[in-house]
Amino acid sequence: MKRLLIIYHSSTGATEQMANAVANGARSAVCGDGENNIAVKVLHASTAGPDDLLAADAYIFAAPENLAAIAGLMKDFFDRSYYAVLDRINGRRYAAVICAGSDGQNAARQIERIATGWRLQAISPTLIICTHAQSTEAILAPKIVSNEDLSRGEELGATLAAGMAIGAF
Ligand SMILES: Cc1cc2nc3c(=O)[nH]c(=O)nc-3n(C[C@H](O)[C@H](O)[C@H](O)COP(=O)(O)O)c2cc1C
Repeated sequence: MKRLLIIYHSSTGATEQMANAVANGARSAVCGDGENNIAVKVLHASTAGPDDLLAADAYIFAAPENLAAIAGLMKDFFDRSYYAVLDRINGRRYAAVICAGSDGQNAARQIERIATGWRLQAISPTLIICTHAQSTEAILAPKIVSNEDLSRGEELGATLAAGMAIGAF
C-alpha cells in the first residue's frame, strides 16, 4: 500500500477545507480494478515532522499566504523537517495548494523552492485559491471555499492518488 501525506495549516478555515478536499479526492480516486490502495493521511503542520515525511510516498502541502510568505506554522514545519530528510526523499511526487486573499504567488514560490531543494517532483502547478479577503474584516472572518474550488482540490488529490495507484509515480 502506498501512502499519501497531506500537511496543512489554516487560520480561518480555507486551507483546512482545501486539505480535506484533496484528501477526499485522493480517497475516492478509482483506478482500474476499482481499488486505489492508497492510504491517505492528513496532518496539521504543528504535529507533522521528518518521520511523517519519511514514512510517506508522496505529499500535498497546503498553506495560507500570510504577509507575502507561507504562514508561520507551515514554515515552522519545513524548518523543523528540511535537513532531517534532505537527500532521503529525492524523487517523490508532490503537489501544493495556497489559499490567499488576493495573491499567493510568493507563498507558492517558497514551497516550490523548498520542494526543489528536497528534489521532489511536482505533479502539477501549485493550485492557488483566492478567498477574496482583503479588508481586515474579511481577512479575519471564517472562510467558506466555493464548491468550484473544492472540486479543483478534489481533482488534484485524485490525480496524485491515481498516478500512485497505477504506478506512474
Ligand atoms: C496576517 C495575515 C497576512 C496576510 N497576508 C496576505 C498576503 O500577503 N497575500 C494574500 O493574498 N493574502 C494574505 N492574507 C489573506 C489570507 O491569505 C487569506 O485570508 C486566506 O484565506 C487564509 O487562509 P486560511 O483561511 O486557511 O487561514 C493574509 C492574512 C493574514 C491573517
